[in-house]
Amino acid sequence: MKGLILSGGKGTRLYPLTYTLAKQLIPVANKPVLFRVIESIRDAGVTEIGIVIAPTTGDEIRSAVGDGSRWGVQIMYIMQASPDGLAHAVKIAQPFLGDEPFVMFLGDNVIQGGIATLIRDFANHAWNSQIVLKEVENPSQFGVAKLRADGSIEQLIEKPQDPPSNLALVGIYMFDHHVWEAVHGIQPSKRGELEITDAIQWLVDHGYVVRPHVHQGWWIDTGRPIDMLEANASVLDEITPSVAPDAMIESSQIDRRVTVQAGAQIINSIVRGPAIIGEQAIIRDSYIGPYTSIYHDVVIEGCEVDRCIVLEHSEIRHIQARLHNSLIGRHAKVTRRLERPLTLSMNLGDHSSVEII
Ligand code: TTP
Repeated sequence: MKGLILSGGKGTRLYPLTYTLAKQLIPVANKPVLFRVIESIRDAGVTEIGIVIAPTTGDEIRSAVGDGSRWGVQIMYIMQASPDGLAHAVKIAQPFLGDEPFVMFLGDNVIQGGIATLIRDFANHAWNSQIVLKEVENPSQFGVAKLRADGSIEQLIEKPQDPPSNLALVGIYMFDHHVWEAVHGIQPSKRGELEITDAIQWLVDHGYVVRPHVHQGWWIDTGRPIDMLEANASVLDEITPSVAPDAMIESSQIDRRVTVQAGAQIINSIVRGPAIIGEQAIIRDSYIGPYTSIYHDVVIEGCEVDRCIVLEHSEIRHIQARLHNSLIGRHAKVTRRLERPLTLSMNLGDHSSVEII
């Protein structure tokens, strides 16, 4: 069994962050989503992994991930010249995958509980494909499955206006070599992409066995900022907290659901978990509330921050209101000048959003 991670795409829903950063490298609970995906695949016993990358963000992904030896896996990169769809990404990975069965995992998805059981089930049955479904409240934003009374798949529809069920396709799929006939047998959709739902429908229509598995834990597709924050909260809920021996905590209250990473300094502050404070970060005269991830080398001074993700080397100082539900990029500065007149002064990238109340 091989692994295929899709880490190309454009990431338009996460602009402006994804103008300069691959969305799969945005950390949740201080670890890039893509690293979590690699670990899920490795933990299921799959060690040969191909990562589909885009020309825009490929180099950044290569340098962050390397050859995989850090995780005890072998990683190959597959360049997709343009984001022509998930089934297109599968198609161009054929030389790497050959005729072996494989698990495909979207590089921006986070799932509770890993995939070891799913992979075992697929290996132990004569199924041609296994897909993972999840009950969702807003099925028209996803690929949706319509099941027959016996639980088998009747139809898959990409982002239906009138969804036939609330079962969305989670970004994890398993295929055997019959998928090659499918991806070569389909045509681009109205939006010009080779859709994975069409490829799976092709398998169903041609009598191949596509097994649905309904996932019971949480699953988050981190396409939008709100999803990133949701994924961050779900992962923070599950990590076992720890405080690095060289972290400095002075005149502060840190509750037991807080992880403090190496070299962080927390001075005269309150940190309520679940939360994580990254390496060499400095928190001074501040309140950090639940579901917050402060990445490495961040400085927070004289502020209240909760349910946020703050990326590396950013500074947040002396803002009067509580920073809530926010995703702050790298090397960003959010500060308040202490002298009058009180003015707002901004230098924001395209598609930035600032709410002032
Ligand atoms: P999407 O979230 O569907 O697409 P996107 O990353 O372009 O984002 P947006 O819709 O905000 O513009 O992609 C899911 C995953 O699959 C993501 O990790 C990117 C990857 N992908 C590819 O590798 N190749 C592709 O052709 C597409 C469409 C996505």
